[in-house]
Amino acid sequence: MSGTVRVEREGAIAVLAIDNPPVNASSIEVRRALLQAVRDVGDDPAIEAAVIIGADKTFVAGSDIREFGKPLEDPQLPTVIAAIQACAKPFVAALHGAALGGGFELSLGCDARVASADAVVGFPEVTLGMIPGAGGTQYAPRLAGIVAAIEMICSGRRLRADEALRRGLIDAVIDGDLRDGAVAFARGLKGKRRLGLERVPPGDSEATEKAASAALRAGKNRPQVAAAIEAVKSAATLPFDEALARERAVFQRLRMGSEAAALRHLFFAERQAGKVAGLEDVTPRRVSCAGVVGAGTMGAGIAMCFADAGIQVTLIDRDDESVGRGLERIRGTYERMAASGRIKADDVQQRVRRVRTATDLQSLAGCDLAVEAAFEDMDVKIALFRELDRILPRDAVLASNTSYLNLDQMAAATQRPEQVVGLHFFNPANVMKLLEVVRGGETSAQTLATALDVGRRLRKIAVVARVGEGFIGNRIYAAYRRQCEFMLEDGAYPEEVDAALEGFGFAMGPFAVADMSGLDIAWQMRKRLAATRDPRERYVAIADRLCEQGRLGRKTGAGWYRYEPARRVPDPAVHALIREASAEKGIQRRTLGTDEICARALMTMVNETALLLEEGIAARPSDVDLVLVNGYGFPNYEGGPLFWAKRQDRARLLAEQERLAASAGFGFRKGDVAGLLDQLAREG
Ligand code: COA
Repeated sequence: MSGTVRVEREGAIAVLAIDNPPVNASSIEVRRALLQAVRDVGDDPAIEAAVIIGADKTFVAGSDIREFGKPLEDPQLPTVIAAIQACAKPFVAALHGAALGGGFELSLGCDARVASADAVVGFPEVTLGMIPGAGGTQYAPRLAGIVAAIEMICSGRRLRADEALRRGLIDAVIDGDLRDGAVAFARGLKGKRRLGLERVPPGDSEATEKAASAALRAGKNRPQVAAAIEAVKSAATLPFDEALARERAVFQRLRMGSEAAALRHLFFAERQAGKVAGLEDVTPRRVSCAGVVGAGTMGAGIAMCFADAGIQVTLIDRDDESVGRGLERIRGTYERMAASGRIKADDVQQRVRRVRTATDLQSLAGCDLAVEAAFEDMDVKIALFRELDRILPRDAVLASNTSYLNLDQMAAATQRPEQVVGLHFFNPANVMKLLEVVRGGETSAQTLATALDVGRRLRKIAVVARVGEGFIGNRIYAAYRRQCEFMLEDGAYPEEVDAALEGFGFAMGPFAVADMSGLDIAWQMRKRLAATRDPRERYVAIADRLCEQGRLGRKTGAGWYRYEPARRVPDPAVHALIREASAEKGIQRRTLGTDEICARALMTMVNETALLLEEGIAARPSDVDLVLVNGYGFPNYEGGPLFWAKRQDRARLLAEQERLAASAGFGFRKGDVAGLLDQLAREG
């Protein structure tokens, strides 16, 4: 990235326009040019005040994230801000688009801030593993109070201009032309208005502690969240300059750390996932109304995604009772969201009104897109696709939410296979960010572009996969789960495997997840596949035995664990089953340490990824990282399994792969992990 600052004059007001497409990030070039422009303002006797504005679509969306992994070149942002404050003339920041992180801090260092109604402000630093580093933790509490500052800095939440005004973070919202409004505001300023350097009154310490513990909980106790709280609190206890210096030191330490590197990797991975070769010049089809077939948990969740995005949706099921239940589920979820303050009370009705219900597929006759979320059975899906093909407009897109069935077979049942695509949502669909977009053998570029565009509008992280059992996520997860079951036969117990992987950072270990989702679905699938399974393959039958005993997971009060009533408790009866299984195979049980458990589980993911890349089901390693982090509870601060692998010792990983092959025995497929590691090293 490069960047310049254009200086224009409006009488005695200088307008400094930061121009660094696409988002005016404050790169070294921008900082250099801005510092010079600020000095020129100071030196020019004809200028009385200045406005800093962003060229094109946005103010400054933040510091240039690409610079964060390296030593920062001078001048750094605090130097630029100090120059603005040292200048005898007042500066007004004019905000539109995004004023985030370093961009927002730059504006906070000015004497006043005005914004257009579309502007958003905020501190995304914690989501990148850092804290604000150019005064954010000191200015925000001085303007909005300690409690509000903790909330906004620790969550990274973006505030719209009206809220920012209400909280005192900006001085005015400009109705007409922002540049003109800002120039007029600057003319009206009577000298410098530098933010008070006095300490912030500590305020209500009980409220502060409450906000701090809520922020820590929501931020999963990550170190940058704790550091942000401490920095904000220091606004009440330390002299301004000392607090500023401490903030900077913490920022510098965190930005060079491994967690920040992992989160930056995910930031760029997300942007890259949306780029698919061949779609550059393809215009997506406009989707203004959608249909969802199946009003169960998944279908209702998907319908909410559309309603949340302002898209009219028709939810279909076979009878009034089923659609009624679906709609009630939707209303109930919105009401709970309103009660906890996640949406406004008015939004409940507005969003529910976007969901129409019907019991006849014919009601989808005018839809641009239909997503089926029916029972996972190929015959059911094929029959449904035939009907949808007959009913929906010829140019509409037909999508399946299947999590493992072959999309191409569904497409073949229609007269428009090129307009069939997979949209694999994750449960709960309205919450989970991941969307696997499955590109069938016949899916056209426009259909794929439409699916990606819908994904963006639904605010999902869309990752493209090709057709293959389980696509990306479920395929890797199945291999991982199988490996975890091998570990039970080899000597571990479910709670040991879960504890090791939760210790690594997974939201939940594999056995706790299985109990939560229910063991019966996988059991049905295993029974179906039993006839075609090669008897030489290593097969762990413990889960089958649990199911035969009616232990189907949480819903039956027992599975891999016992539940008391919601707390999971290791169960000696399960231990006995596991020991029996080991004995039947003549396996001498041994203790598996945390390191071995994690290495085997993670290496299984890496091996499976190598296979997925070779088969062309996943396009790039970073796509797999996104899938695992956003759909399967992989800790984001490790950056995903491939980012993790890149940081491990190569020889150790390759040796681990050999051990996996030996422990799995017949049928183990070895991916080209060495080639994958080379690719990761090349990508840097
Ligand atoms: N530094 C470097 N590059 C950045 C950037 C930043 N702070 N913010 C965005 N970009 C780049 C993206 O990587 C992308 O590059 P690409 O086109 O080469 O892939 C491009 O700008 C556009 O970003 P994108 O997110 O695709 O555009 P958008 O219009 O959907 O969203 C923003 C724009 C600004 C809202 C969004 O990019 C954003 O939230 N950026 C992060 C801001 C941030 O965290 N700033 C604080 C840093 S401490």
